[in-house]
Amino acid sequence: MTLETANTTAQTHAQSLLDFIDASPSPWHAVDSIQEHLDEAGFFQLYERENWKLKRGKCYYVIRDDSSIIFFRLGQQLLQQTGFRIIGAHTDSPGFRIKPNAVIRKQETLMLGVEVYGGPILATFTDRDLSLAGRVSLRSNRLLPEIKRVHFSQPLVRLPNLAIHMNRNVNTDGLKLNKQTELPLLFSVNGGQPESTVDQFKVLLAEHVECQADDILSWELAVYDTQPGSFWGAHSEFIANSQLDNLASCHAGLSAMLSAQSQQSDFSQVCAFFDHEEIGSESVKGGNSSFLADVLSRSVMSLGLDQQQYQQTLANSLLISADMAHAWQPSFPSAYEPDHHVLVNSGPVIKVNANHRYASNAFTEAVFIRCCEQAGVPWQRYVHRTDIPCGSTIGPMSAARLGLQTVDVGNPMWAMHSARESAGVLDHHYLMNAFEVFFSIKH
Ligand code: CO
Repeated sequence: MTLETANTTAQTHAQSLLDFIDASPSPWHAVDSIQEHLDEAGFFQLYERENWKLKRGKCYYVIRDDSSIIFFRLGQQLLQQTGFRIIGAHTDSPGFRIKPNAVIRKQETLMLGVEVYGGPILATFTDRDLSLAGRVSLRSNRLLPEIKRVHFSQPLVRLPNLAIHMNRNVNTDGLKLNKQTELPLLFSVNGGQPESTVDQFKVLLAEHVECQADDILSWELAVYDTQPGSFWGAHSEFIANSQLDNLASCHAGLSAMLSAQSQQSDFSQVCAFFDHEEIGSESVKGGNSSFLADVLSRSVMSLGLDQQQYQQTLANSLLISADMAHAWQPSFPSAYEPDHHVLVNSGPVIKVNANHRYASNAFTEAVFIRCCEQAGVPWQRYVHRTDIPCGSTIGPMSAARLGLQTVDVGNPMWAMHSARESAGVLDHHYLMNAFEVFFSIKH
């Protein structure tokens, strides 16, 4: 492949990533988008409440509580001999979530109260065209509610900055926002109308999902930035969007799975994408839940293997835990470990931490390096500054829970947890290629 064709293919892949993110303004929508691709590719949906009868050579997916998804392909080779090749990632991103009693009235102004979800860079949410996406539960005539998606595509709320004339030190002291008092989002102005008892927000929601306001029992609504993804840079070599952490890894994993399916690989591949990574993964569907263990054990047993063979399968399995990595930003040299810079468009990053905040070890690092070599893509290694606490991801907990040999990798990006993150066009293409090799290469 010439450099020019490689670049064109990379641009196409990056565009497909941007489209995927634009269609997925919340973790619930991300799982919907993935499900659409899987349905189109002929994957069968399994339900945890039902009995499973699986067959080799077939493809399946399981969704837990709307925002975590595991999809897999069973190859012809014996699982206890080959194990699973697993790619893990997360579907959620940090930001704001609408409080249950949402409307705050301050004189004529209506605002929506928010909780902070995970660790966003708060200041980056100011002056952006924000809107809401998520799910609502509606009253049904049974115990269990009817769930509906919410996705307002027009800007609906805003967090306006204070003018510099009232905040003279903003450029020297930085923009500091009190999470309780200074984050409520502007939503409407009553224009001197007498105070109405109607909850305008609930009415708006009800119109949107076409129900009676009284039938809305509860919601989970994320605040998202409506600006679509873009290419930037002298040669359009960079991309910007919200949620690159970690929908970029989900997109690369999904592509690798679809290509393993079309190539009829002999091995068995799994993608496990969890919600709630940004808040610690302890939930019914997080990386530290029973979800992956349940799906793997039920799949293996459904093929007629016993407990002994299930343990063999796990011991032969490999997990790539994929989450984004911190790219070198030359204006802030002191933030980085000087001998472990990672550069945008220089390849996927293996994340190493001696205290196992990342699960990579000498064995699994080597496995990923072989995938990159085989795919003909460059790779890099990242170590956080020793005097700054290091972040973590789903790798270490999956490794511990299931006894899976795991490597933590991810693409370089700038401004992790900003409302608008950026990354490299080539890196996404590289990661997709490395994942494809991981799903098909012999032990
Ligand atoms: Co992440």
